[in-house]
Amino acid sequence: MESLVKDILSKKELRNLNKKFVKEQLENYFEKNKKIKKRLELKEFNKRSEEYKRTLKEVRKKLREIYGVFIEKNYSKKEKLLSEISKDNQEEIISKILNLHKSTKERLPFYDEVYEKILRITGKQKTILDLACGLNPISYLWLGYKPNYIASDISSKDLEFIQKLFAKTRIHGKTIQIDLVSEHNKVKNIKAEICFLFKTLDSLEVREKNISKNLIENINANWLVFSFSKISLGGGKKIAKSKRKWLINFIKKQGFFYKEFEVPNEYFVVVKKF
Ligand SMILES: C[S@@+](CC[C@H](N)C(=O)[O-])C[C@H]1O[C@@H](n2cnc3c(N)ncnc32)[C@H](O)[C@@H]1O
Repeated sequence: MESLVKDILSKKELRNLNKKFVKEQLENYFEKNKKIKKRLELKEFNKRSEEYKRTLKEVRKKLREIYGVFIEKNYSKKEKLLSEISKDNQEEIISKILNLHKSTKERLPFYDEVYEKILRITGKQKTILDLACGLNPISYLWLGYKPNYIASDISSKDLEFIQKLFAKTRIHGKTIQIDLVSEHNKVKNIKAEICFLFKTLDSLEVREKNISKNLIENINANWLVFSFSKISLGGGKKIAKSKRKWLINFIKKQGFFYKEFEVPNEYFVVVKKF
C-alpha cells in the first residue's frame, strides 16, 4: 500500500497532494475493485504485476481529474518566483504565479472586473473565506482593499506556499486544509462574511452527488460566491448555462437573495445567505 501511494505521488502534477488523501482514494478504489486488491495481495504488491500497473493508472486518473489537471507545466517554478518578489515588482511576479494554475490563468485578465462586480453586491466585508482555493488567494492585490483572508484547499503543500506568500506580501491571512467531501462539517467552524467557491462545485459533485447542498448549508458566511467555467477544460467546448440550473433552483427553494453576472470565461452567482 505504502509503495503504491509513493508511486502515485511520484507524478509531477500530483506531487503536492497529501499522502492521507491519496491513501483514501486508493482505499476507495480497492473497495470498488475487491478482486484486484485480492490478487495484488497474493502477488505481494509486485510492481511488475498487471494489477499494480492498473491500480496506479486508475487512481492517478481520478486524482488528475480532482487536482492534477489544473496545474500548469511549470507549477514548481512558483517557489523561485516567490523568492523574487519585491516592493517594485509585486504585481508582475504575482501575475506570473497566477499563470501557473489553469483557473487563475484564465481569470487573470478579468480580476479587476470580477472583484469589482462581487464587492458591489456584497460590500467590502471584513473576512473572506476561499474554499478549494487553488492559487486564487494570490490574487489578493486585485481585491482593492485589505480584508482578512482564510484560504482552504485539499493540498497542504499548496497552502504552505500561500501562507509564505501571505507573509512575504504582508497579507493578514491564514490557511486551513479541508477535504470538502469527507470533512465538509469542518467549514461550520469558520466564520467569515464572504465565502468564495470558485470553479469547484462541479468536481465535488462528481465525487459525491448532492455534496454541494450540504456544503452550502454548512458554510458560516453571510455571502456565498460561486463560479463555473463557461468552457470545458480541454478548451473549445461551451458549457451551457442551463447546466447550473440545479444551483439556482436550490437557492430559490431556500429563499436566498442572489445575483448573477459573467465575464468571458466564467459565470458567477452571488448569494446572500443571511
Ligand atoms: C478548478 S480548481 C479551482 C481553484 C480556485 N477555486 C480557482 O477557481 O481559482 C479546483 C480546486 O479544488 C481543489 N479541490 C478538489 N477537490 C477538493 C476537495 N474535495 N476539497 C477541497 N478542495 C478540493 C483542488 O485542489 C483545486 O485547487
